[in-house]
Amino acid sequence: APTAAVIPAAGRGVRLGPGAPKALRALGGTPMLIHAVRAMAASRAVSLVIVVAPPDGTAEVKSLLDAYALPERTDFLVVSGGASRQESVKLGLDALPPEYAIVLVHDAARPLVPVDTVDAVIEAVRDGAPAVVPALPLADTVKQVEPAAAPGDPEPVVATPERSLLRAVQTPQGFDRATLIRAHETVTDAVTDDAGMVEQLGVRVVAVPGHEEAFKVTRPLDLVLAEAVLARRRL
Ligand code: CTP
Ligand code: MG
Repeated sequence: APTAAVIPAAGRGVRLGPGAPKALRALGGTPMLIHAVRAMAASRAVSLVIVVAPPDGTAEVKSLLDAYALPERTDFLVVSGGASRQESVKLGLDALPPEYAIVLVHDAARPLVPVDTVDAVIEAVRDGAPAVVPALPLADTVKQVEPAAAPGDPEPVVATPERSLLRAVQTPQGFDRATLIRAHETVTDAVTDDAGMVEQLGVRVVAVPGHEEAFKVTRPLDLVLAEAVLARRRL
């Protein structure tokens, strides 16, 4: 089944601090977005990559895709993003040609995901799962809290979910095309990932093993880790 990847890259990267939009910042001298595009195009199954660019950055993204070496067998499209990740993914899906039966959604902010993880997600969709997420067990214990009585007060802890049953979810998340499009057309609640919308449809979502190098570059320390991972790969 023809497979496409949608890469939401329209965020500003507020938690990373002031500077260019996060996806355009350099990692090992190459924009984070280019790493993410290469990670998707590295899978032989992926024949189209749709980049959802910052609204004021579509021309810059197009010229970056022309400037960096990318596999010949992959097509690229650039569309303008929206105010939320959810909206940006929807705008990417609006540009998806009908022949793509499998769709990956991958954060530009996860530039170092290994191709084996990408292929494992695609494989699980091919095997019949309508929605697949790469996921890892948690290192930290997680507590549920209630809002503090006043700003600055300690937060009351109300529960400790069983850690062995929790997973930290990554991207690329993989979907049967019709399922993902239906989710984006019908679910209006705010969610933080695409599989969450599919869950709201009542459709089964499954997890496959993620990879520690698929971490999201969110805060400044994540950039330090990403540079170290790249340096290790270049040894
Ligand atoms: N994203 C997007 N459109 C938005 C917001 C986010 O395409 N309006 C994308 C980001 O570019 C990123 C992915 O969604 O690749 C994951 O979001 P996140 O890590 O939260 O990135 P930002 O929203 O840019 O960062 P922050 O929340 O710190 O501002
Ligand atoms: Mg964000």
